Amino acid sequence: MNIITSAKEMQSLVSEIRTSGKSIGFVPTMGYLHEGHQKLLNEARSHHDIVVLSIFVNPLQFGPNEDFDRYPRDIERDEKIAKEAGVDYIFYPTVQEMYPNDMSVKVMVTDRTDVLCGKSRPGHFDGVATVLTKLFHIVMPHKAYFGLKDAQQVAVVEGLVRDFNFPLEIVPVETVREEDGLAKSSRNVYLSEKERFEAKELYQSLLKGKELIENGEHNPAKVMEAVRKHIQEHTSGEIDYVEIYSYPELKKLEELKGKIILAIAVKFTKARLIDNVIINV
Ligand code: PAF
Repeated sequence: MNIITSAKEMQSLVSEIRTSGKSIGFVPTMGYLHEGHQKLLNEARSHHDIVVLSIFVNPLQFGPNEDFDRYPRDIERDEKIAKEAGVDYIFYPTVQEMYPNDMSVKVMVTDRTDVLCGKSRPGHFDGVATVLTKLFHIVMPHKAYFGLKDAQQVAVVEGLVRDFNFPLEIVPVETVREEDGLAKSSRNVYLSEKERFEAKELYQSLLKGKELIENGEHNPAKVMEAVRKHIQEHTSGEIDYVEIYSYPELKKLEELKGKIILAIAVKFTKARLIDNVIINV
């Protein structure tokens, strides 16, 4: 496994790999790898000759009052996990390498950003789309793997790839959970013991909503209310949102039908956690 810090070097390496007819699977991350990332790496490993992992905490996708400085980082641990997962190259650039001058062009996401995390994190998806545009040009993968825990991100990135004709395929991968159902996240380390105990109720609230829908409740307001109530009664977290939309369009629904997403974001003292379920009604 090699660690590459220069974009130019990475580009010339992947050009050679592509010329030799090998396929490249790419897992973009911000590091502090957990089992969710491992699953993405395993998927990529089983489908490609070469697996590239990027680790870059992207300042562009953090708001001024968000956790960019505090975002957990541990490159030595990440290297170990990457090696065990059979990664061939880690692309590990500095902020200076990715954004050497004031950028003169940024990507702006114009659809699906007025809901869910887009609403509470203005500019977040512009930052994600901008860094991924750069990473896709640097790594030139055949396929890129993304976790469905960030289902809105998956929908936005699919839009980016389609609208800008990137010659690659996005592969969505199921959320990996702790034994009690809590979705794996790099931010889970910020939960206090009490909050960690409560956090399992987030998934339970989603399952409750899912069950209501499966038992015939087609009114989105009623489902959202039941989910809210469960979170309020079982956790000390502050609800950022509980919402239901069509998926992947992320349009509001009067009545639940077709493929939908039930998604939540809850703020604990030092961590804002998100989770979702996608349901075929
Ligand atoms: O999901 C993430 O970790 C980030 O949003 C991504 C896709 C690596 C872009 O910085």
